Amino acid sequence: MDVLDAIRTRRSCRAFTDDPVAKELAEQVLQDASRAPSAINMQPWEIHMVLGEERKRLSRRLLKAFNERRVTCGPGAERPIPERFMARSRQCAEGMTPLIERMGSDFKTYINEGSLNFYGAPAVALIFADGSFPPDRMIDVGALVGYLVLAAAAHGLATCPIGLVAWYQDEIRDHLNIPESKNLIISVALGFPDQGAAVNEFRSPRANLKEFVRWID
Ligand SMILES: Cc1cc2nc3c(=O)[nH]c(=O)nc-3n(C[C@H](O)[C@H](O)[C@H](O)COP(=O)(O)O)c2cc1C
Repeated sequence: MDVLDAIRTRRSCRAFTDDPVAKELAEQVLQDASRAPSAINMQPWEIHMVLGEERKRLSRRLLKAFNERRVTCGPGAERPIPERFMARSRQCAEGMTPLIERMGSDFKTYINEGSLNFYGAPAVALIFADGSFPPDRMIDVGALVGYLVLAAAAHGLATCPIGLVAWYQDEIRDHLNIPESKNLIISVALGFPDQGAAVNEFRSPRANLKEFVRWID
């Protein structure tokens, strides 16, 4: 698969099969993802890969925390977000809702509980950064995530970036014995798509270039 195929066909997977991801395959994906650019090549990321039963154990802890605190997926904004951005988010939710309902669930429950269960993926990359890095360096982590999802696609794996976990990082640090000086930025679920799950039929739309590109020539 070339890079454009990966870019054009990748999508977030929200139902994985139980099939395990071999450690060697995960290692290859991480190796390729680590070619991502970063400011002055600091590579300010640290990845905890959680596999198999350990991943399930972690999710049990997260779902318990979710039932206690109910922090849900959202934009996490400090100020109101302009309507056109919120409209894109709503459009995405509206597209996914009937598919999730076909699976006997509702959008909010499926996305929130599903995110903390990594949608059943057998592997999850928890991506941390040392607390000494300023917010600017999270751009580098974003670049890593972009590389990671594309490298995974090229190696035949489906992914879903999952940011909700960052709100539950105290539990994750405690569960995995990770020092408080490390911040969990995002996670990426990896595995094989459940082809029979309706939610995986969803393909998210994109804004027209005219909406976000200004040409100056
Ligand atoms: C930073 C970030 C955080 C995300 N967090 C979640 C999440 O917590 N749960 C989830 O189901 N999807 C999450 N996603 C996936 C997005 O919803 C998805 O990328 C977007 O709707 C576009 O769809 P696509 O990836 O299929 O192209 C996240 C994506 C990014 C980049």
